Amino acid sequence: MNILLIGSGGREHALAWAIAASPLTDRLVIAPGSDAMATLGVCVDVDIEDHDALLSLADDEGPDLVVIGPEGPLVGGLVDRLEAAGHRAFGPRKAAAALEGSKEFARQACARYNIPQPGFTACKDMTSVRAAVAAAGGACVIKADGLAAGKGVVVADTADEAIEAAEAMLGGRFGSAGSTVLVEERISGPEASLFALVDGPTALFIGSAQDHKRAFDNDQGPNTGGMGAISPAPRLDEALQQQVMDQIVQPLASGLAEEGTPYRGILYVGLMLAATSPQVIEFNCRFGDPEAQVILPRLRSDIVTAMLATVEGTLANLSLRWANTHAVTVVMATRGYPEQYGKGSAISGLAEAERAEGAILFHAGTKIGHDGQVTAHGGRVLAVTGLGDNPASARATAYEAVDCIDWPEGFFRTDIAAG
Ligand code: AMP
Ligand code: GLY
Repeated sequence: MNILLIGSGGREHALAWAIAASPLTDRLVIAPGSDAMATLGVCVDVDIEDHDALLSLADDEGPDLVVIGPEGPLVGGLVDRLEAAGHRAFGPRKAAAALEGSKEFARQACARYNIPQPGFTACKDMTSVRAAVAAAGGACVIKADGLAAGKGVVVADTADEAIEAAEAMLGGRFGSAGSTVLVEERISGPEASLFALVDGPTALFIGSAQDHKRAFDNDQGPNTGGMGAISPAPRLDEALQQQVMDQIVQPLASGLAEEGTPYRGILYVGLMLAATSPQVIEFNCRFGDPEAQVILPRLRSDIVTAMLATVEGTLANLSLRWANTHAVTVVMATRGYPEQYGKGSAISGLAEAERAEGAILFHAGTKIGHDGQVTAHGGRVLAVTGLGDNPASARATAYEAVDCIDWPEGFFRTDIAAG
C-alpha cells in the first residue's frame, strides 16, 4: 500500500515511524518530511499551505491513503479537496475540523449534545464582552474563536485583564481568528487529554496523555506547544476514561454524524477533570504534538489498519491492543523558544541516545548535513521518548537518553512526568 503523509514535525516523525512499521506499507511519501524522516520514506519538499501542490503530489503518487498530521490543512479543507479528486484521506473534512478551527462551533456542538463544558458566551463586540465578563464575576477565560497558534487563550484573574485581552483579539491581533471572542467560565482541576478514532458514528479510544505546556520547570514561563508528555494520563483512570467516551466522545460523534457533518479521523479531547465530572476544554482535529510521540509507541495494533477502518467506517469491527508499557517524552527546544531563537546550532550524541534501551528519538526541527552533522532548525527540535513498565522507569529512560545529547544551545524541562 502507498501512503502519503503530510507534515514535518515531531508528531509526523512518530506517525511516519508507525506507518513505516506497518506490514501494509509498501511505500511512504512524506510532504515535506525532514532529513530525519528520510530513513522512513521518500520526502518531497512541498509547502503544506499550498493545497494545489499537495493535490498534484497526490495525483502523481496515487496513494491508497493520505494521512494529514497538522491542523492547518484540515481546517483549511484539504480533505474535501482530496476526496473530490478521488483520494482517500485520514482526517476530518473542513466542516468537522471546525471543532478545532472554531471554538464557538465546538462549544455550540457540545451545548447541543449536552456534553459537560464550562459556560460560555460568544461575543463580536466589546459591549457583549463587558456584559459577559461582568456576569462571570471578572475571573474568566478569553479565547479567540479561530486558530491562533496556541496563543489565543488568556486565563484572566480580573475583569480588567479579561477586557484587555478581548480588546486585543477583537482589534485584530490574530486577524480574523479573533473576530469572535469567547468569554468562558473559568473552571479548575487537573488536565488530561483523550484521543479517539472516529469514523462518523463510531468512536474508539486509542490512548490518553498529559502534556506539559509551560516552557520551564514547575510550570513556569510562557505557554508552548508542549514540552513533554506522558501516556497513559496518570489522572485519567479507566472509569474516567469510559466516562469521557460515554459522555463526551460518543455523543459528539453521534450528533455530528446525524447532523450531516460526520467527524472522521483522530479526535483530541482536551479535558479538565473538575470535581463534578470531566469537562471539555478544547477539541483538536489531529494527533497532539508531543502526545503522538507517547501514544503511538504504546500501540500494538497496526496504525494503518486502524486509519483505514476509520476512513472506511468500519471501526465498529476493530479492537485495539496496547503494549503493557508507559511512555514519557521530553522535548528539547532551542534556547529562547517559544519566543525568539536562533537556528543552526550543532547537536551531538544522538546515536548514543538512541542506544539507550527503550528510548526512541523523534526529530521535530533538525537538519542533517551530508557529513551527518545534526543542527537545530526550529523551536521544538527533538522529542525523546522513553518506554518502561511504569511511569518512573519510562521517565528514567527518557532522561537517560536526553543526558546523552550534547546541545549547548538547547534546553528541556527536568520535571516531565515527575508527579
Ligand atoms: P486551550 O488552548 O483551549 O487548550 O487553552 C489553553 C489552556 O487554558 C488550557 O490548557 C487550560 O489550562 C486553560 N483553559 C482553557 N479554558 C479554560 C477554562 N474554561 N477554565 C479554566 N482554564 C481554561
Ligand atoms: N500538545 C498540544 C497540542 O498538540 O495541541
